[in-house]
Amino acid sequence: MSKNQNVSIAVIRRLPRYYRYLSELLDRGVDKISSKNLAEIMHLTASQIRQDFNCFGGFGQQGYGYNVAALRAEIKAILGLENQLDTILIGAGNLGRAFASHLDFKSGGFNLLAVFDQNPALEGQVIGGVKVHRETQLPEFCREHKPKVAILCIPATATESIVSTLIECGITNFWNFSHYDIAVRFPGVTVENVHLGDSLMTLCYQISNKDHPVEAEY
Ligand code: NAI
Repeated sequence: MSKNQNVSIAVIRRLPRYYRYLSELLDRGVDKISSKNLAEIMHLTASQIRQDFNCFGGFGQQGYGYNVAALRAEIKAILGLENQLDTILIGAGNLGRAFASHLDFKSGGFNLLAVFDQNPALEGQVIGGVKVHRETQLPEFCREHKPKVAILCIPATATESIVSTLIECGITNFWNFSHYDIAVRFPGVTVENVHLGDSLMTLCYQISNKDHPVEAEY
C-alpha cells in the first residue's frame, strides 16, 4: 500500500462503507472477491472501485480478485482504526449520554477515557463505563492523560470557550455535534462536523422533488 497525499474527502468517506462490506463478506466466509462482484453488491461500478483503490496504490490483483481479509486489513490501516486514540466527550446531556452508552468507539479507532459536564449534579456518574467529571477538571485531566480527541455534545454558545480551553490542553481533533463552526475561529484544527438536521433537510428535499430525483447515494 502506498498512501496518496492528495486523496479527496469523497474517497475517504467511502472507505468505511468498503470496510463494512468487506467485514460482512469475511463473516460469511468469503475469501476472494472480484472488483465486479464487489461493485455489484455495493451498487457501485467496478471502475469506481478501482479508481478509489488506486488512490492508495491499488490493492490485490484485479482479474484474479481481491483477497477479502487483506483488503479489509489495508483499509483498516488506512483509516487508522488500530490507533485507539484517547478521547474525551464534553456534554453529558441527551446526545452525549447516547454516544457514551451506545457507540462502539473501539471499532471506530477511539478509546473513550472520560465525560465532562458543567453540571455538578452529574459529577461521579458513570456512563458507558466511563466517569463524568466537572468541566473545570479538564486541564488537570488532560495534563495527566493527554487525550488527543474531543467529542463535543454541548450547545453552540458554550463551544468557543470550551474549544479554546481544549486547544490549550493540547487537543486539536474534534468530532463536533455543536452547531458552532470550530474551523472558522480556530483554523488548523481537525474537525468532523455532524449535523443530523442537515441530513434530515436533504431527505426533505428529495421527498419534495421526487419528479427530479438526485443521483442515488449508497
Ligand atoms: P442537553 O441539553 O441534553 O445536554 C447538553 C449538556 O451540555 C448538558 O448536560 C449541559 O450541562 C452540558 N454543557 C453545557 N455547557 C457546557 C460546558 N461549557 N461544559 C461542559 N458541559 C456543558 O442537549 P443535547 O440534546 O444533548 O444536545 C447537545 C447539543 O447538541 C445541543 O446544543 C444541540 O443543539 C446539539 N445537537 C446536535 C445535533 C447534531 O446532529 N449535530 C443533534 C442533536 C443535538
